[in-house]
Parts: sequence; structure tokens; C-alpha cells
Amino acid sequence: MSGLIDIIENDGIKFILSGGKGGVGKTSVAGALAVLSAQRGLRTLVLSTDPAHSLSDSFDQDLSGGEIIPIKGFENLWGMEINTEKGMEEFQKNLGEGAAGPDMAMASSLLGDVGGMSPPGSDEAMAFGKILEFIEDSSYDRVIFDTAPTGHTLKLLELPELLDSWLGKILTLRQRLGSMMSGLRSMMGGAEQEDNAWEMLQVTKEKIRAARIELSDSEVTQFVVVSIAEAMSVFETQRLLGSLNSWNIPATNLIINQLIPANPDCRFCSSRRNMQQTNLVDIRDLFNDLHITEVPLFETEIRGIEGLTELGKILIGEK
Ligand SMILES: Nc1ncnc2c1ncn2[C@@H]1O[C@H](COP(=O)(O)OP(=O)(O)O)[C@@H](O)[C@H]1O
Ligand SMILES: [Mg+2]
Repeated sequence: MSGLIDIIENDGIKFILSGGKGGVGKTSVAGALAVLSAQRGLRTLVLSTDPAHSLSDSFDQDLSGGEIIPIKGFENLWGMEINTEKGMEEFQKNLGEGAAGPDMAMASSLLGDVGGMSPPGSDEAMAFGKILEFIEDSSYDRVIFDTAPTGHTLKLLELPELLDSWLGKILTLRQRLGSMMSGLRSMMGGAEQEDNAWEMLQVTKEKIRAARIELSDSEVTQFVVVSIAEAMSVFETQRLLGSLNSWNIPATNLIINQLIPANPDCRFCSSRRNMQQTNLVDIRDLFNDLHITEVPLFETEIRGIEGLTELGKILIGEK
């Protein structure tokens, strides 16, 4: 199994996702991996899909404007915090009402209830929409996702399946209603516009299929799980890895962050260190099929390019 350095140096890896419990260091890791990728010469984009953004804070630069922004000090690194509210409107306009609107409105008035036909919504859908965009986009060699804490990210990754089945349902209904609709449509006009809308749904469905293939290819996508050496984080790691596994999302690397260095003069530090080291033994045993990278607790918080570069060196074993 390959370590983080192998992921960074494998130029075929287009998507790296960083995930785990809140506060463990997901954003710092995403930032550090982005800096490493850019230093390697790859055109790199780092995106935050966590509604509680901290990418701006981590890079010490405002990335919240809803647009992709060049990161200072680099010519090949860009970043953006995905504005889920604004994006959600776009997404629903595209996928939901806009596309399904006229026909579905007609269908519901004819059939009464077309329950379950509203698109699976929320932040995750939005974030996934962005993933879809970048899967096709060749402007970037690598896209790094700073994901939200586990539950939220699991919903995001579950989404291709949900969307696929939702679109399947809606397209089947469309077929069943086809002849009836074409009659009604020609009576009421606007056929062309609707066909475009349906075509778009069909295209979206194909894009989702393609995304599922890319996201499950270990030569294209790697999900890096971040944890700390505490029981609660370990439980969450197990849960996350189980789900990633069931959706075939490649995850071969685990980072154990914020490990307290040995310090015989500080009793408090020593006792926390002992607790962590005990947990670390269990972690190595529990996740013996993963490549584990240990990261010490820094003396200061990790902020700005300098801090992220420092963390990057540790991640690839240079320090
Ligand atoms: N190894 C570390 N040493 C010192 N501070 C760290 C370390 N890892 C993360 N931090 C700090 O902990 C806080 C949370 O980290 P962050 O990467 O934002 O976590 P998450 O994205 O998982 O919520 C930040 O202030 C960050 O600077
Ligand atoms: Mg974060």
C-alpha cells in the first residue's frame, strides 16, 4: 500500500478528499496536500465543501467570494470555499424546477401525486455538483476537497446513488407519460424548451455515472482520513472507512494528527501522551491495512503557507 508521498507524486491522481471528525485537522491536511501538489508543478485547486469553512483561515486569505481565487505566492494554486446557499439555488434551478418544471407540473395536475419527485437537496448536492463540474474540467491537474465532518460527507458521497435513482425515476415517468405529453405539449406549445430540459437531465445522469467511475478508481481518487489518537475520533474513523468501502471510494491512508511529543518535564503533557500512545497501538492494529502517517502537535496553530508547507513536509516523510 502506498503512502501520502506516492499519492502526491502520482500525477494520475486527480481528486484527493480529506475527511474526518470536526477539529482533527482536515482543513490543514487539505491545505498542506494542495501546497505539495502545487510545489510539484501541478495546476491545483483546493475546494472546501464544509459549510463551516476554514480554508480562508488556513491559507490566511479570503476564499469566500464564491469564485475560484489564485492563492498568493503561487502561480498554479487556486482555492474556493463553496458557497452552498448560492450554489444550491443554482443546482435546484438546473436540476429541479427548471428541468422538471413544465412537464412535472402537468403530470402532477393530471396524476395528482408525484411524490418523491423533488431532487435530493441540500449542501451535499451542491458540493457534489461541483465535483461533477471538475471531473470534466481539464483546467486543473488536481482538485483537493476539504470535506465536512463525517456525517455530512457521507451524505455527499451517497448522493450519486440517490441522484441516479431520482433521475431514473423521473426519466421513467417521463417515458410513460411520453405520448400523452407530446399531445398536450403540442396543444400548449413550448415543446422544444422542455425537450432541452429533459435532455439536460439525461446528460446529468450520464455525468453522475462518470463521476461514480472516477471516484471509485484508486488511480484517480484518494480519500485521506484524518483522525486523532482519541477513542471518539477512532470510532468515527471506523464508521467513515466502512462507508467509503461500501461505496468503493479508495481510502488507503490514515493520518493520526496532533500527537503530543515526549516531554518529561510536563506531567500533564506526559499523561496525555501516554493516553495517545496507548490508543496508537490499538489504531495500528485496527487499521493495519492502511498506511498510517503520524503528525505531531505543533507548538502553534497551523496557518498560512509557511505552516502548511511545514505540515506537508511531515506528511511526505521529509521531516
Ligand atoms: N498538528 C497540529 N498542531 C497544531 N495545531 C494543529 C494541528 N493540526 C491542526 N491544528 C489546528 O487545529 C485547528 C483545527 O484544525 P483544522 O485543520 O481546521 O481541522 P478541521 O478542518 O478538521 O476542523 C486549527 O486551528 C489548526 O491550526
Ligand atoms: Mg475544516
